[in-house]
Amino acid sequence: MKKKIALLLMAAMTISTLAACGNSAAEQAPASTTEEAPAEEAAPEEEAPAEEAAPEEEAPAEEAAPAADGELITVGFAQVGHESDWRAANTKNYQDTFSEANGYELSFVDCDNDHAVQIETVRGFIEQELDYICIAPIQSAGWDTVLQEAQDAGIPVLIVDRAVDADPSLYTTALGCDMVAEGEAAGNWLAEYLNGEAANILVIEGSVGASATLGRTEGFNNIVANNSNWTVLDSQSGDFTQAGGQEVMESFIKSYSDFNVVVCQNDNEAYGAMDAMDAAGITYGVDGDVTIISFDATHDGLQYTLDGKITCNVECNPLQAGFAEEVIKKLEAGEAVDAWTLVKDEAFVAPGIESAYAVTMSQEVLDGRAY
Ligand code: AHR
Repeated sequence: MKKKIALLLMAAMTISTLAACGNSAAEQAPASTTEEAPAEEAAPEEEAPAEEAAPEEEAPAEEAAPAADGELITVGFAQVGHESDWRAANTKNYQDTFSEANGYELSFVDCDNDHAVQIETVRGFIEQELDYICIAPIQSAGWDTVLQEAQDAGIPVLIVDRAVDADPSLYTTALGCDMVAEGEAAGNWLAEYLNGEAANILVIEGSVGASATLGRTEGFNNIVANNSNWTVLDSQSGDFTQAGGQEVMESFIKSYSDFNVVVCQNDNEAYGAMDAMDAAGITYGVDGDVTIISFDATHDGLQYTLDGKITCNVECNPLQAGFAEEVIKKLEAGEAVDAWTLVKDEAFVAPGIESAYAVTMSQEVLDGRAY
């Protein structure tokens, strides 16, 4: 499979590279980056909001059927790990999409949040001469060598979910949510909600070096800089896990007594932070002393938002495999692919709150969600 399309792929990659301003820049630049993609390049996400139509439903079945020649297309997926509910939904989405019934043989590896394991996993995919490699990078740095190896082997690489710092000429395409825009959405909502009131903020960050962490932190800090009566008291990594969120929050509670906002960079960290505040007798939510902002907007996270415990929850859509499949179908058909595909997301707020930046939660909204 790869031999016969290698030349076409190289041509596609070249077009892609020429169009690219750099995925890592896209990840770390403000929301305006997404405006750089020409309208026709952003077709998948323009068709409907993510929760209304799962991305994998958008690709027409008749478009370049993957198994048309009877061979399964081999795809390696070096997944971050299993740290969060978001990740579980993302993994299931890839396994459902890249199924044998759909014409694929998926080699899935859970890299357990270990960068070295992830690099070796990609090397293994190269040795196996898989047709395509998808990488959800645990950290953004340290990718040049193995990406060069994949390119030398003629295997197209899709950087998915998170970004890498590497030169975009080393990979075929990138896709995912705009993490900086997510951080800015959280900050803009907070400014609107507080309406001039001061904020003493604690931040439970995601995994160190992950572009999801770097982007959300950068975006939120962009808004902090515009609010002179906001102070970020502390910012520590909870590693995108519930245990990590609880541990960091317990430590914050020992050190600070004057906070009124806790920003958790994913839902699982928020669950851990709530456990820690419950144990310390600290009230939170729309009726409490502390406002919690979370990211991901997974089902349980939005249930807490509906219950008024998490006041604002900024979505990160995990249903991204359909976008990856669309890229692979285009490459199979010898078509050029975009350098970057944005997976859109939105924010949600607790009932009773009206916001220019977020959807007000209701049972109907929760019931209409796919994850
Ligand atoms: O890269 C996406 C982030 O990674 C999600 O916010 C988090 O839950 C996951 O671990």
